[in-house]
Amino acid sequence: MSTVAELYTHHLATLQHRTEQALARGGFDHLVVPSGTSHYQVFDDRDYPYAVNPQFKAWLPLTRAPGSWLVVTPGQKPKLVFLQPFDYWHVVPSAPSGYWVEHFDIVVIRKPEEALQHLPSDVARCAVLGEAQSAVGAFVPNNPPAVVNYLEYHRAYKTPYEVEMMREATRRGVRAHHAAERAFRAGASEFGIHLVYCQAAGQDANDLPYSNIIALNEHSAVLHYTDRDLVAPTSARSFLIDAGAAHNGYACDITRSYAHDAGSEFQAMIDAVDAAQLKMCDQVRAGTDYKQIHIDAHIALAGILKDFGVINVSPEAALATGVSSAFFPHGIGHGIGLQVHDVAGFAASDEGGTIAKPEGHPYLRLTRVLEPGMAVTIEPGLYFIDMLLDEVKKNGHADSVDWKRVEAFKPFGGIRIEDDVVCTEAAPINLTRDGFSQAA
Ligand code: GLY
Ligand code: MN
Repeated sequence: MSTVAELYTHHLATLQHRTEQALARGGFDHLVVPSGTSHYQVFDDRDYPYAVNPQFKAWLPLTRAPGSWLVVTPGQKPKLVFLQPFDYWHVVPSAPSGYWVEHFDIVVIRKPEEALQHLPSDVARCAVLGEAQSAVGAFVPNNPPAVVNYLEYHRAYKTPYEVEMMREATRRGVRAHHAAERAFRAGASEFGIHLVYCQAAGQDANDLPYSNIIALNEHSAVLHYTDRDLVAPTSARSFLIDAGAAHNGYACDITRSYAHDAGSEFQAMIDAVDAAQLKMCDQVRAGTDYKQIHIDAHIALAGILKDFGVINVSPEAALATGVSSAFFPHGIGHGIGLQVHDVAGFAASDEGGTIAKPEGHPYLRLTRVLEPGMAVTIEPGLYFIDMLLDEVKKNGHADSVDWKRVEAFKPFGGIRIEDDVVCTEAAPINLTRDGFSQAA
């Protein structure tokens, strides 16, 4: 097995190659990437949490180094202009160290504007990728579409280093999911479970790749429920947790659903979604259209609703009439990597263009055909959401649903099960299931 240092060397070679191509496409000589700066809140002198530029952390395992710059010039060692300010108000980024350092020419600067002395002399020859407020002097991000499109399209194909970083993120996430389940079983509040999760992950809320979704009972029906009740409900019937972790800038995204009562019908429904989800994960194979996995998921989930007597029409009819969408109202998943919802999900090619979503499925975030190296989530769900069920009635499909069964399941909110899966030349790698079995 290769060491992280070896994997990283290979990763950088891949990035160098992609960058050469991207710069040629855009007609530039240098890629220049600011790490980003902090944002003040409006009419205030407090910062929003700093978020590193993803184009920067693609190269460097540095997620807390604002004001630094990366310069990549084909044929040369990449340069890191590293800001280590004289500052006694904040923690200053520590001196560069680790497996990545030898691959860069590193210049330490003490003030942000000193970066200018170390950036290429002709800004017109530079593709500068970042947000407007990172500008220093003439180095104003221009984000040329030809360059960005190329890099983002190819970022879908993870290097073995990136897969290893996602495995590490998953290890943390799984550890924290186990701790959260224990807290749920012990009767903790949503806020209490959240704190237990962060503690076990070893990451504060701002370090996580997205806001934890920690939902008890009916709250599980709110897809992005990020309120956290401070007080535990008198009876915690169900628990949906959608929570990730980060490692060196890479994300995991994991959702699990639990019933309080192991013998309940709700637990049986969770088990049915779990079994269907595993089959969907197995569809993450080269040449498979991700849109098809989404449509097949509707059929599978509607089949579960029918088996449990919630709907009384065929899965195909439920899909055609939009009834399945009332219970499964989001996409089957998305790309994942440096960003929890990774970029270029709709990219038709590395030159741009868009692959449309299937009609009637506006929330699907990935429409590409899967190829080896792509990492995606598979996250089917079933929810009991009044607003959407009212639509079913308004649209004339009330007869397709057994409303008494809906009432029986509503107190549990909903179910979602989500794994991160890597497409390969052969069978998919399920990072999440691997993580849970290794932790068992
Ligand atoms: N885990 C949150 C989401 O994928 O939207
Ligand atoms: Mn997700």
